[in-house]
Amino acid sequence: MGGADGAVRRLSGQFISLEGGEGVGKSTQTARLAAALEARGVHVVVTREPGGSEGAEAIRGLLMQGEVSRWSPHAEALLFAAARADHVEKRIRPALEAGQWVLCDRYIDSTRAYQGGQGIDDAAILALHAFGSKGLLPDRTLLLTLPAGTGEERALERDQGIADRFGARGSEFHAQVAAAFDRIADAEGDRIRRVDASGSPDAVTGRLMDALSDLLP
Ligand code: TMP
Repeated sequence: MGGADGAVRRLSGQFISLEGGEGVGKSTQTARLAAALEARGVHVVVTREPGGSEGAEAIRGLLMQGEVSRWSPHAEALLFAAARADHVEKRIRPALEAGQWVLCDRYIDSTRAYQGGQGIDDAAILALHAFGSKGLLPDRTLLLTLPAGTGEERALERDQGIADRFGARGSEFHAQVAAAFDRIADAEGDRIRRVDASGSPDAVTGRLMDALSDLLP
């Protein structure tokens, strides 16, 4: 549907975001889903947040490195919104306007779940999104889910003790993030589909494709 901006809504390109907590396999599944879509003849622009444009990747460095306490929750929310504004303007919106599909590894719901979990009000996050990115929302959001704790274990194994500023937080923080994703998915069922991330990578990709079947040409 393209959020608040009617100019995007009329175009044929679809904007898909993948969301979920640490270690649910989002990055692997983003690449696999892109390949599955290409095999169906759908060309996709694959991107990620924070990042995805030159300016936003520079902001990503500021956000991901350093001490957990480097930024206050308010400063962090503003940095994510600034990165997203640049990414939307320079990369996502031009691709959608050209009729392309965009597949984005994390987007606004990550800010709502992660920064929301630190006391930043959902309405404030959405107001920043309205200001920075004209409120652009995905046409479909795929929320990868795993039983509590499973994703963190996978992430710990993957990161080998060198987690970034977010992965380094405790299990209580990650449980809050999962609960926030759940609340958002319950409230916005038209846009968001939960997808079970357990089982083989192939099985998960199949479930993701099923959750997009109504959008496929
Ligand atoms: P990732 O590249 O491993 O997904 O890491 C990005 C980290 O940044 C992840 O821990 C979630 C966090 N994050 C936020 O806290 N807010 C956001 O808006 C986004 C996009 C990511």
